[in-house]
Amino acid sequence: MMATRRGVTQQKLQGLAVAWLWIVAGGATLTGCDSGAVTAMAAAAGASNVGGSPGAGGNATATSGSASGGASNAGTAASDSLAQKYADYFPIGAAVGNWHVDNLSDVLKQDFNHLTCENAMKIQDIHPVEGSFSWAEADRVADFARQNGMKLTGHTLLWHRQAPDWMFAGVTAGDAASLETLKGRLKAHIEAMVDRYADVVDNWDVVNEAISDTAAKQYRDGSEQSRWFELFGSEEYIYWAYKFAKDALEESAAGSSAGKLYYNEYVVTTKADKILKLLAWLKDDKGLKIDGVGFQSHENMTWPSTTDLQVAIDKFKTAGYKVKISELDITVYSDYSMGSFMASPALPFSAELEAKQAKRFADLFALYRKNKDVVTSVTFWGVSDDNTWLDNEPVAGRDDFPLLYNDQHAPKAARAAIMAF
Ligand code: G3I
Repeated sequence: MMATRRGVTQQKLQGLAVAWLWIVAGGATLTGCDSGAVTAMAAAAGASNVGGSPGAGGNATATSGSASGGASNAGTAASDSLAQKYADYFPIGAAVGNWHVDNLSDVLKQDFNHLTCENAMKIQDIHPVEGSFSWAEADRVADFARQNGMKLTGHTLLWHRQAPDWMFAGVTAGDAASLETLKGRLKAHIEAMVDRYADVVDNWDVVNEAISDTAAKQYRDGSEQSRWFELFGSEEYIYWAYKFAKDALEESAAGSSAGKLYYNEYVVTTKADKILKLLAWLKDDKGLKIDGVGFQSHENMTWPSTTDLQVAIDKFKTAGYKVKISELDITVYSDYSMGSFMASPALPFSAELEAKQAKRFADLFALYRKNKDVVTSVTFWGVSDDNTWLDNEPVAGRDDFPLLYNDQHAPKAARAAIMAF
């Protein structure tokens, strides 16, 4: 498998380890899949893709759709298109970049009607030097979306990671004048992003991962690598990001911010109450109600349970917010099952593992479908197993198999499983 990226992110590991400690402390039970069901699912889904032969679910490289625009995937039979199969439920998205447009454009046109730039819209990537933008990759993805009748998620306008040094240069915590400089830089960045992509982005991850991984702490602060919190000395920066995004959208077209402002977070089942507190602060104290919450959904084979996910979805729905599944993938490893991080040994992607993963995907999609009144999109964090961040984190160089297509770009049993309803 091609390892496309390198480098374990210690802070992310710590975050996930803490989250898993919560789970264990809370008495969550990790259960295995029923082997009979697994075998049945394997048979139903045609789990035969190990080694690359296309299984049930269609031909991964089948050409489909016109590249000239109009309805996405036009010309593809509904039974062969994941996006068309889910047309009455929600858009189906994928996180992509240049590599995907080069190598998987037919699969993208066939199965997806929504895209997210996996990296190209992050501040460090698209705005590496103040006032100087590297638009090329994000523009290419945006043009691919426009030409194929797709929409984009704008990911992400503010994150503690991939935040360039120039943004914070010369800014001192507690110094009001220099804080105005930081706010001005953030505003200029957000205005430039909205100005360029307002026509094709239908929802923005305005702020990403601002909640603390520590149970007793509400917000990620300087000790968890947030220079935003550290310099502002509070969560006030979150408000400014939403205000600048909303104002920029309203300036592009009155009323156009409606439904577009999201907060994006990982392990949401453990952070839901803290996120609700953030949303309530924005709404009640700052007068700015946002629209929804992205559940990143980097899941494993057993955690979180669909029961816990339903509880979390219901909390946001009750409070008046939409939910999107923003970064779905399912690792085959469970590095935190002992309560703290312990790397699982590399596995071959056996037929049994493929069937177990297919059942897990099917269970999650059944849950998403059940909640279609509140779920606004479901996006996979990649397309095929030969290009996934999970090959590099949390264990660098360990092959993982978290997506719908295998290393040879043939559909896995998981794809058939989520089409079977
Ligand atoms: O582009 C450079 C390349 O020039 C260089 O040679 C190479 C050497 O390491 O690094 C390349 O950049 C890497 C980049 O991915 C593109 O491959 C970065 O080091 C690496 O840190 C970066 O990782 C991304 C990570 O976010 C950090 O931005 C992952 O691809 C991406 O999947 C991941 O996505 C995040 C979401 O944005 C937020 N939620 C969690 C999710 C997974 O961590």
